[in-house]
Amino acid sequence: MATIFLFLLLSAIFTAEAQSGQSRIKPGSFLTATLTTTTTNSSWLSPSGLYAFGFYKQGNGYAVGIFVEGIPQKTVVWTANRDDPPVPADAILNFTSDGQLVLQSAQQGTNKSILESPGGATSASMLDSGNFVLYNSNNNTIWQSFNHSTDTLLPSQQLLVQSELKSSVSDSNHSTGRFLLLMQQDGYLAMYPVGTPYTIEYGYWDNGRPGETDNAKLNLDDNGHLYLDSINGTAGMVDIHQGDNSTKGLLYLLRIDADGILRLYSHNMDQNGTWSVTWSQPDDKCAPKGLCGLNAYCVKTNQSFDCNCLPGFARINQSEMSSGCERNFTAESCKASMTYTMEAVNNTIWEYKNISVLSSSTQEACKAACLQDCKCEAAVFIDGECKTQSLPFRFLTLRQGDSNVALIKVGISTPTTDGNVSKKSKKEVIIISVSLVAFAIVLVISGVVMYRYRVWACKKESYQFIQKKKKSNHGNIVLSEEVSLRSFTYAELEQVTDNFKEELGRGSFGIVYKGAIGDGKKLIAVKRLDKLLADREREFQTEMKVIGRTHHKNLVQLLGYCHDGPNRLLVYEYMSNGSLADILFTPEKQPCWDERMEIARNIARGILYLHEECMPQIIHCDIKPQNILMDENMCAKISDFGLSKLLKPDETKTFTDIRGTRGYVAPEWHRKMAVTVKVDVYSFGIVLLEIICCRKCVDYNVAEEEAILEEWAYHCFECGELGKLVNEEEVDKKQLERITKVALWCILYEPSLRPSMKKVLLMLEGTLDIPDPPSRSIPPSVWGNE
Ligand SMILES: *[C@@H]1O[C@H](CO)[C@@H](O)[C@H](O)[C@H]1NC(C)=O
Ligand SMILES: *[C@@H]1O[C@H](CO)[C@@H](O)[C@H](O)[C@H]1NC(C)=O
Ligand SMILES: *[C@@H]1O[C@H](CO)[C@@H](O)[C@H](O)[C@H]1NC(C)=O
Ligand SMILES: *[C@@H]1O[C@H](CO)[C@@H](O)[C@H](O)[C@H]1NC(C)=O
Ligand SMILES: *[C@@H]1O[C@H](CO)[C@@H](O)[C@H](O)[C@H]1NC(C)=O
Ligand SMILES: *[C@@H]1O[C@H](CO)[C@@H](O)[C@H](O)[C@H]1NC(C)=O
Ligand SMILES: *[C@@H]1O[C@H](CO)[C@@H](O)[C@H](O)[C@H]1NC(C)=O
Ligand SMILES: *[C@@H]1O[C@H](CO)[C@@H](O)[C@H](O)[C@H]1NC(C)=O
Ligand SMILES: *[C@@H]1O[C@H](CO)[C@@H](O)[C@H](O)[C@H]1NC(C)=O
Ligand SMILES: *[C@@H]1O[C@H](CO)[C@@H](O)[C@H](O)[C@H]1NC(C)=O
Ligand SMILES: *[C@@H]1O[C@H](CO)[C@@H](O)[C@H](O)[C@H]1NC(C)=O
Ligand SMILES: *[C@@H]1O[C@H](CO)[C@@H](O)[C@H](O)[C@H]1NC(C)=O
Repeated sequence: MATIFLFLLLSAIFTAEAQSGQSRIKPGSFLTATLTTTTTNSSWLSPSGLYAFGFYKQGNGYAVGIFVEGIPQKTVVWTANRDDPPVPADAILNFTSDGQLVLQSAQQGTNKSILESPGGATSASMLDSGNFVLYNSNNNTIWQSFNHSTDTLLPSQQLLVQSELKSSVSDSNHSTGRFLLLMQQDGYLAMYPVGTPYTIEYGYWDNGRPGETDNAKLNLDDNGHLYLDSINGTAGMVDIHQGDNSTKGLLYLLRIDADGILRLYSHNMDQNGTWSVTWSQPDDKCAPKGLCGLNAYCVKTNQSFDCNCLPGFARINQSEMSSGCERNFTAESCKASMTYTMEAVNNTIWEYKNISVLSSSTQEACKAACLQDCKCEAAVFIDGECKTQSLPFRFLTLRQGDSNVALIKVGISTPTTDGNVSKKSKKEVIIISVSLVAFAIVLVISGVVMYRYRVWACKKESYQFIQKKKKSNHGNIVLSEEVSLRSFTYAELEQVTDNFKEELGRGSFGIVYKGAIGDGKKLIAVKRLDKLLADREREFQTEMKVIGRTHHKNLVQLLGYCHDGPNRLLVYEYMSNGSLADILFTPEKQPCWDERMEIARNIARGILYLHEECMPQIIHCDIKPQNILMDENMCAKISDFGLSKLLKPDETKTFTDIRGTRGYVAPEWHRKMAVTVKVDVYSFGIVLLEIICCRKCVDYNVAEEEAILEEWAYHCFECGELGKLVNEEEVDKKQLERITKVALWCILYEPSLRPSMKKVLLMLEGTLDIPDPPSRSIPPSVWGNE
């Protein structure tokens, strides 16, 4: 209805343009950035004249994009090659006879095809929906701007699974900015700073309720109704913002703005008005992580927000609030001419990077220890430990009620302006570098010693690390079982995966492809780590460190790696039966009860090995059915160690920011408590419930009271209606009750009450009665809404 109304209205307003508007643009047409003669145009209008494709002013030059032309306040909704510099006034956009859109500027020497289109377009069209489309000779759409969104989503455009909107630098600069909105595979719509891993550690908003997993997409309709649905349409629809059917003639657009806030704007076409904000998220303007830049934190003001520097820091660019802050002295050199003090900033959280742990039992002692340590620039006193931190502080935020205190070293007196100072400091630098080199050598040596020790400590089913040099025939890739962790070149992996042809799945940080080595005899899985992620290196190292030295029949085996130029890949044994999620949630594949119990025991064995038989202890941190793979004998193996945490030999708990996957993370992550191996026990408990019931832990396709599996399981347990959990499948009642109790013990809120993995396995294997789990007293914490 409203569409028609809007359309009629617009047609009325823009009749003149509509008549001249070309519905199909043909090769040979061109646009010029500036109107040199009366016969040229700088844009192509949509039939109603509402949208235009063409040149618009950007900085000192011009950019090509789509903008709302039919309102006084021209609004850019899409930009071609947004990160390219603007083009000068002589630029021409040429729709060439071979079907390319080529941007040319003699002055700048530009001659570039701008849309990453397949070429061969025979016509183009700027549609009234705001979509710019290229067609081939069969009249099929070969390219459309709706599939390549920048920061804006228009009505009838969809944000498909694993696609993003990325904010612009500012209102006037449409290059890629600092925040993104992602339609996640797990069905949540979430926001992150650009360049961070997509884990809840970095996310700053999600819609709180997932759409259908694997293929949810975001929709905006003409009434401003914002919702998630799936490939199957409105089945399993999740509302994000209710539309407004009463007011007609509103034009909507959804945009992630430069400040990291997602806003739904509306514009009343009847009036000359401006855009007004209909809905926005998150409510907290300071929520977008890293909004203020490095070493700075955001404070709310009545209308907006302000950026403050840490004590002893000053803003890098006074006129730009988010430029971040830097120190006006260097702390590391411990200049005698300086005096230092430690200043505390209350209620702060940031991306922790533990450099070392100083022994101090109080905050005051922690301050003193940092002051005495030349290398210490800042510290945090937490859980009775004094942890030094290195600069810069990323994602620093204030959060009331958080007891974290950042302790910052601040220099107070200015250094003397003695001429010798620079010479002296050069000398200091040399001394420091020499000692750093020495330190590094010591580290390497101790690393080797530790490494051997760890290998030995894991020896139960330990792995031979000695590379037995085997002659490979004619350079063919032969992987013998004894040769562990072989190093591959990128070209080799390209070859064995047939140019990364067959995708097996997606893990944290990367896509997994199928490959074959040894003349196609041995199948392998190759994980290519995402190039864009800054944390790729950490992930790579973690996986190498963690699974490179473990060997257990319930852990997926790492065979090799590739560390070739910028490429980081990991090579695993191939698991022919896919993931547990795959078989559990596909009705035709569901294993029977006894098979499911064997799977549960195998997972428990794998986790037990990580927790108790490895030195150092390993917390997996991301136990979920997607990370449990099934080999050809349906033996379950744990994979994806990218988020794992290694505990130091004497450590039993660790402090780290939240990792893992929603639905499976233990409540203590949200409470900012130290985490222990019990977080894996919690995740295992959730997975065990899924194994019992053959359904996902969150599922909105079932009755509302059953949607959250853990709550429903408690309910069924308390009412003595466990049969409902297995859909009245024929199973041993006694065993069902025992296994359900194990799961409920595992997901208790209080970590110390949860059983160890050893006990869990004994309970799963044994036949003894298991005491009833205590009832739950603490309500679940809701992620994102603290
Ligand atoms: C420019 O646009 C006008 C209408 O706005 C149209 O009549 C004319 O044909 C266009 N010129 C070219 C060269 O496309
Ligand atoms: C837009 O911002 C980017 C990134 O900050 C910068 O490199 C570019 O020069 C800016 N463009 C204009 C036209 O100001
Ligand atoms: C468009 O490109 C073609 C081939 O590159 C060229 O012959 C033609 O002159 C160009 N048109 C304009 C207006 O520059
Ligand atoms: C742009 O490049 C194409 C082929 O790459 C060439 O044919 C054309 O002449 C070039 N145009 C200009 C203006 O340099
Ligand atoms: C292409 O499709 C449009 C609309 O579907 C139609 O108006 C047009 O005539 C078609 N063109 C050709 C060449 O088939
Ligand atoms: C747009 O993307 C969807 C989903 O990836 C794809 O099915 C469709 O073919 C794409 N359309 C065009 C014209 O590229
Ligand atoms: C969605 O469609 C797929 C394939 O058409 C089907 O297997 C699946 O059960 C459908 N899901 C729902 C919730 O209808
Ligand atoms: C608006 O209209 C649509 C379809 O006409 C309907 O599905 C939706 O529930 C309506 N929304 C409200 C808030 O009335
Ligand atoms: C809109 O603006 C135009 C000129 O800018 C003016 O003539 C017209 O009266 C205005 N209409 C309304 C409804 O304000
Ligand atoms: C902020 O709001 C409070 C109460 O609403 C008011 O008392 C205060 O003056 C305001 N501060 C500023 C700077 O506007
Ligand atoms: C920080 O917290 C401590 C104790 O909670 C308090 O004594 C101190 O005044 C606070 N500092 C600031 C700057 O608010
Ligand atoms: C750094 O700046 C602060 C004030 O912002 C000042 O008190 C301090 O003396 C300065 N330190 C140095 C080393 O310049």
